[in-house]
Order: sequence, then structure tokens, then C-alpha cells
Amino acid sequence: MFKCIFKDQNIYKCLLNGAWVESKSGKREKIFSPVDGSLVGEVQSMTKEEVDNFVSSAKRAQKDWANKTLNERADIIHRAADILDREKEVIAEILVKEIAKNKKSSLSEVARTVDFMHFTAEEGKRVVGESIASDSFPGFGKKKISIVNRVPLGVVLAISPFNYPVNLSASKIAPALVAGNSVVFKPPTQGAISGLYLAQVFCEAGVPAGVLNAITGQGREIGDYLVGHPGINMIAFTGSSKVGMHISKVAGMIPLLLELGGKDAAIVLEDADIESTAKEIVSGAFSYSGQRCTAVKRVLVIDKVADKLISAILPLINKLKVGNPTNDCDITPLISNEAADYVQELIEDAINKNAKLLVGNKRQNNLVYPTLFDNVTVDMRLAWEEPFGPVLPIMRVKDENEAIKIANDSEYGLQSSIFTSDIDKAFEISAQLEVGTVQVNSKTERGPDHFPFIGVKSSGMGTQGIRYSIEAMSRSKATVINLK
Ligand code: NAP
Ligand code: G3H
Repeated sequence: MFKCIFKDQNIYKCLLNGAWVESKSGKREKIFSPVDGSLVGEVQSMTKEEVDNFVSSAKRAQKDWANKTLNERADIIHRAADILDREKEVIAEILVKEIAKNKKSSLSEVARTVDFMHFTAEEGKRVVGESIASDSFPGFGKKKISIVNRVPLGVVLAISPFNYPVNLSASKIAPALVAGNSVVFKPPTQGAISGLYLAQVFCEAGVPAGVLNAITGQGREIGDYLVGHPGINMIAFTGSSKVGMHISKVAGMIPLLLELGGKDAAIVLEDADIESTAKEIVSGAFSYSGQRCTAVKRVLVIDKVADKLISAILPLINKLKVGNPTNDCDITPLISNEAADYVQELIEDAINKNAKLLVGNKRQNNLVYPTLFDNVTVDMRLAWEEPFGPVLPIMRVKDENEAIKIANDSEYGLQSSIFTSDIDKAFEISAQLEVGTVQVNSKTERGPDHFPFIGVKSSGMGTQGIRYSIEAMSRSKATVINLK
């Protein structure tokens, strides 16, 4: 059984230098469930003054951690993965309550994280250096050999979002640790309890005191101070483009990995297999109620097959179960009333500008029913803004060039899908799309997690994915042997 030393009743503490502590200010944040408004627990609101202790603890512990063998670090991460696996039911239950993700998806978030951590522990051993001889460059003969190793960056600040508080936290912490960094981990406030469970998993696995520190507090209060802290050597952030861009201004000259928002387009050509395309689109747009960076957020379909596609999509939407995540509904309450208000704004804007509502536009507090629009046009906000909710706009286009233009006119550049039976055409279009990844005949999605995951334009900076993340959280260090 889990050692619940990180909480006292339902008051959760922060992890500082191997101990679970409360804020000296006595300030706490109440975490209410988006499902029914019940209190899930209280987390500490650490102050800026207290932030210093978390960063200096990480700084002090880093060198000894880096001096451990790679095998020792990898073993601890394997152990953490085993503990997470053992605790999957407990943590999935917390996810259900804290972020209203249904039980099946919560369990799969945890299971996927277990796999991620095991894979990371192994991959860490394979990220190796090289030796370069001078004789390949003119004028140096065989006089020099550069031995290039990978070394850690120091203290990594890991900031994660509410929608995957376990997976998108572990996907920063595990690569950072295996590369020999120490970590200051700031989970999202809504999602903090799930994040603190994860921190306890690492603790129980034997991560030494100070190597992983977990701090809670509102991003708008301690975020800038953390991000600009001189003790931080690298930031791995996932969240909105607005906060990501802000972080890039505050952080100064340190490496950043930013995974931000998206407006992924599914481009459907005339020769697409309409039944399977409809399935992919509905699952891509509506899983976790559309609260995924990689959700399909617009459909660009050739006019000639639009009616057929809509006829295939509608019955699938009508089958989605709407309601409580504990009943394994597909569409569950959004993370907050404000999030639902924003989705509603986009729906109203589309209606006012004469988009055709095919289903939805129904709401109970933060529960927004799945909504599908036809005839969405470029003057509507729904064509460009990320709803982060269960609303899908269909935009009819005359040909693939118009689809490519609309796809690329977006400020975002995370992923796109192309549905076609012509693989040559798929490659041709893929080459023109300004995104990190193009999926052919599949919904947009991140996994498997060792694939590179890249956002361009306002969707991010740098490449995630197990090996890519380890590389981003380490650097080359060259020692040159000068031969006589
Ligand atoms: P968010 O509001 O940007 O928050 C993300 C994290 O940033 C939270 O931990 C938040 O803390 C923290 N934060 C807020 N202000 C900060 C500041 N000034 N300095 C440092 N940290 C600060 O995003 P969200 O609502 O949690 O997540 C949804 C967004 O994330 C969507 O736009 C989605 O597309 C994007 N996302 C992208 C990816 C990807 O891989 N590309 C994956 C998942 C989500 P508090 O919670 O305390 O405010
Ligand atoms: O929300 C962003 C996640 O990284 C998306 O992951 O495509 O596997 O749901 P996913």
C-alpha cells in the first residue's frame, strides 16, 4: 500500500529535500472536483520566498545524482514505474475526481506512463556520446580527438497542464532524472493532487532527497518567479500558447521545451474511406471531451464528399455517452465553468455568423454536449481558436489546395491528418503542411510516446518523445585529446 506521508487527511504537502512540508504562510488552495463541485483536497500555496528553498535543494542534490551510474538512475526509474503500476487504481480514481477524466482513460493515462518510464530508463542507457578524429577536417592531420559525452543541464523546471497531470509530468521528470538532472516539479493547480501522488511514487522508488522537489501554488503567483529563477537551468513546459509564450520571455537564456496549443486539421479527400475516417475524426475530436492538445479541432473536407462524411459522423456523435466520468461517459464535465463559457462563446459566434448547427449546443454548467457544425467559414472564431472542448467545426473546401491554405493559415502547427487512399497524394500534401507531425489515415495523436512530438509556430518549440526529451535535457560536453 501507498505510504500516504504526503498528506494529512485531505491536506496535501509539497516535496522539499526529501520531506513532505507545508507552506509556512499557512496558505492553501482548495481543489474542487469539476464533476460535482465536491472538495477533493487542499494543496499548499507556496510563496515566492519558499520557492528559493525548492530550487536550492535541487541544486545541492544534482551533482551527487549525476555522479551515480546510469544503471543506478535507470533502476530507480524502473522501480518508480513498478510502484506507479501497483498504484494505478488509486491514482486513476484521483484523476477521475480531480480532472473529470473517465475511469478507462484515467487508467490508460497511468498505464501509458508506466510504459513511458520503463522505456525512458532503458533509452537513457542508449543515449551515448561519440569520438571525432581531427583528420576529417583539412589542416589538422591526426593530431586531435574530440571525445563528446552527454552531460546533464543541472536543475530542470517541469511544469505540466491539467489534462494529463500524470503523463505529462512523468514525461518531463523521468527523462530529466535519467539524464542526471535534478527536478523542480510544478504540477497544474487543478491536477496538483494527481501530480503529488506521482512525486510520492518517485520518492518511494528511492529518488534521493532533493533530486525531485514538488512545489504547488498558482502559476500566476509563483510561476514567473520560478521561471526566471537563476537556479533553474532548463524548463520543460506543457500548457497553453499564451503561458508558453510568456515563459519564453521571462526565462532568459536557458533551453526551453515548450508543448503548447493546437488547432489540428483533419483533411478529408474525395477518395477517403468515409466510414473509417468518420470513426477516427469522432474519436480524435471528442475523447476526453476535446481537452487534448492533439484533438481534431477542425475538419477540412472536399465539398463533394462532405454530406457523406457528415452522415457517417453524426450517428457516432449521437452514440457518445454524456455525463459522469465515474460512469465511464465519453463526454464529461469540462475542467471549469470558465472553460465551458469559452466554448459557449465560440458556439454563439458560429451560430451568429450562420454556421449550420447539426447537433449539440446544449449545456449544464460545465458539462457541454458534443457539438457539430457544418458550413463553418474563415470569418468565424471556431475556424481558428482552440476550444479545448467537445465542439467540432466542419469547413467545406473546393480542393486540396484550399484545405492546405486554411490548415496553414492557423497560428498553430502541432499536427494534421490527411484521409485519402492515395499515398502519393498524402506525401505531397504532408510536405506542404506547416506542422510538427502529419498523420495519414488516422486521427491526430501523440502516441506512441517514443515518437517525436513537435509543435511549430504557436504550438511549441523543441522536440519531445523519449529519446528526444533525454537529448533536450542533456548537452554535449567535449574533451579534446591533443596527440604529440
Ligand atoms: P495553462 O493554463 O497554460 O497551464 C499550464 C501550466 O502552467 C499549469 O501548471 C499552470 O499553473 C502553469 N502556469 C500558469 N501561469 C504560469 C506562469 N506565469 N509561469 C509558469 N507557469 C505558469 O494550460 P492548461 O489549461 O493547464 O492546459 C491546456 C492547454 O495546454 C491547451 O492549450 C493545450 O493545447 C495545451 N497542451 C498542449 C500539449 C502539447 O503537448 N502540445 C499537451 C497538453 C496540453 P496553474 O495551474 O497553477 O495555473
Ligand atoms: O494534450 C496533449 C497530449 O499530449 C495528447 O496526447 O494525443 O495521446 O491524447 P494524446
